[in-house]
Parts: sequence; C-alpha cells; structure tokens
Amino acid sequence: MAKARLACLLTLLSTHCYLSVLAVVLKTNNDSPWTDEFDKIELSCLIESISTTNPRIEWKKITNDGPSYVYFDKKISGDLENRAVIREPATLLITNATRSDTAKYRCEVTAADDQKSFDEIVINLVVRVKPVVPKCSVPKSVPFGKSAELSCVEEEGFPKSQYQWFKNREEIPDDPKTSLKFFNSSYMLNAETGTLKFIAVRKEDAGEYFCRAKNDAGYAECAPQKMEVYDIDIVGIILGVLVVVVVLLCITVGICCAYKRGYFSSQKQTGNNYKVPAKGDGVDYVRTEDEGDFRHKSSFVI
Ligand SMILES: *[C@@H]1O[C@H](CO)[C@@H](O)[C@H](O)[C@H]1NC(C)=O
Ligand SMILES: *[C@@H]1O[C@H](CO)[C@@H](O)[C@H](O)[C@H]1NC(C)=O
Repeated sequence: MAKARLACLLTLLSTHCYLSVLAVVLKTNNDSPWTDEFDKIELSCLIESISTTNPRIEWKKITNDGPSYVYFDKKISGDLENRAVIREPATLLITNATRSDTAKYRCEVTAADDQKSFDEIVINLVVRVKPVVPKCSVPKSVPFGKSAELSCVEEEGFPKSQYQWFKNREEIPDDPKTSLKFFNSSYMLNAETGTLKFIAVRKEDAGEYFCRAKNDAGYAECAPQKMEVYDIDIVGIILGVLVVVVVLLCITVGICCAYKRGYFSSQKQTGNNYKVPAKGDGVDYVRTEDEGDFRHKSSFVI
C-alpha cells in the first residue's frame, strides 16, 4: 500500500516537473523531403510544446555561401519570394520548386515566455531535375578488330544521371558475359560516365546505337546513330602497294631509257620551240608551257 502511494507520488512529481519546465519543442514529419522541379513541397515544422502565445518564427536557407532568410518578420523573402507560403504554425510550403532550392532549411522558433525559449530543426530538401537529351557520339565506321568508343553526356539531371546504351533498340547489358547475344562482344560499359568502349569490334557489333540518361526524376534519350564495321582487306592493301611499286619501276625504267636514247635533250629543244612563239601572247604563256611539259612527261611513261 505504502509502496503504491510512493510510486503514485513520484509519478505526480515527475509529471508536474515536466509541465513546470516551459519549453518550446519542434518536430518535423520529414527531415529529408524531395520533390521534382516545378512541383510543390512541404517543409514541415511542427510545434510540439509551447507556452508563449506569439512566438517568433523564422526560416533560413543554408547553402555553401552561408545562411539567408527565406521567412522573416512574417514575410516570405529572398530566394522563395512569391513561391512559398507559411502554413500554421510554422510549416513552409514551396509552391513551385526550382533546382536552386536544393539546400538545407532551418526552422527557428523563439518563444520568449518559455524557460527554454528557443528550438530549431534542420530540413534537407532535394529538388530533382529530369535529364535533358544527352549528347551522344557514335563513330560512323570502325575497322574490324580495332577499338571504338561511344560516349554519352548529360549534365542537367539531378541527382546525376546514370547511363544505359541500346543497340538496335535492345538494352546492352553491363556485362556482355551475362547475355547470349552479346557474349562474344569485347565492350566495357560504364553506367556512371556513359562510355561504351569496344576493345576490338566484331562484325556483329555493327548496328544502331543510342543512349539513355536517367535519374529518379525521369529519363531522356539521344537519337539512334549507325556504327558500321569494315574489313581492312590485307590482300587488297598488298596488291595495291605492289601496283604502285610496279608503276614507279616502269616510270624509272622509262626515264632511264629516254636518257639513254637521247630523247630528253631533243624533247627539251622542242619545248624551247614551243616557248618562243608562246611568249608573245602574255597571259596564256604560262599555261602553254605547263601543258607542253605535261605532254612530254606522259610521253616518257608511254
Ligand atoms: C514554375 O516556375 C516556372 C519558371 O520558374 C514556370 O515556367 C512555371 O510555369 C511555374 N509553374 C507554376 C505551376 O507556377
Ligand atoms: C562466341 O564464340 C564462340 C567461339 O568462337 C562460338 O562458338 C559461339 O557461337 C559464339 N557465340 C555467339 C553468341 O556468337
């Protein structure tokens, strides 16, 4: 009986004690809210306990440049002017969020008549931004067996975009070994940077490629671009080189023969004969001489 009474007394005392400390206490429903750009968002600041009837309520935005007022003297100001309202008692409602609203916000309540007369809570707001159409670069044609790099860049999205690549409308898996279709392809895909790198392209890698940049807010894609893979024809190259060598040989031999038979000196004289009458008609002079020389050379080859 006595014990029960004591317990009762203690309970009463502690309750009384709690009530006698007049304190302002804040809480929030969500200390890290997010929204999409141009949407609305609530930064909740609830007063759990207060005795003062007319507390002072302020909101500050805290960025790397330091804090600035967004609600002061019962008015929305600064970055949020005309884009926010206060909902009683202290919740801040942003009606049209922009990307620059991503920041920490501090709700501060000063209650002069309370013993503990000040409390604050910090809310971390993220405004997500949809990616815009990424810039994609796909090489038009790549020699078989050579390396190739496809790149994709998008810089508006927030949080930062991640990347996916598609070939002929089918998503390319991060690891070629996980897919039968891409099993033998030598690519490396980096979803963070957007690069798709082939170490050695195969014929099967030819196709239409496009990239998608995505984040929590949405995604955007670039137009498909064709990548062709062509053979470097070794036999063709050797034949080509041979033909050039043979032609050069013929020319050399031809010139030698011409020298030996004395054609060169007699042709030169003919050239001089051309020049003499040509000198008279000024403008045409140079061209006539050039044509004359050209004809001489071709006659050597033949
Ligand atoms: C939000 O702001 C943007 C520009 O900052 C404007 O284009 C858009 O119309 C606004 N939306 C609303 C619902 O007011
Ligand atoms: C991959 O290469 C191996 C050996 O060259 C071949 O047997 C297999 O069919 C190829 N797979 C695909 C999907 O092309």
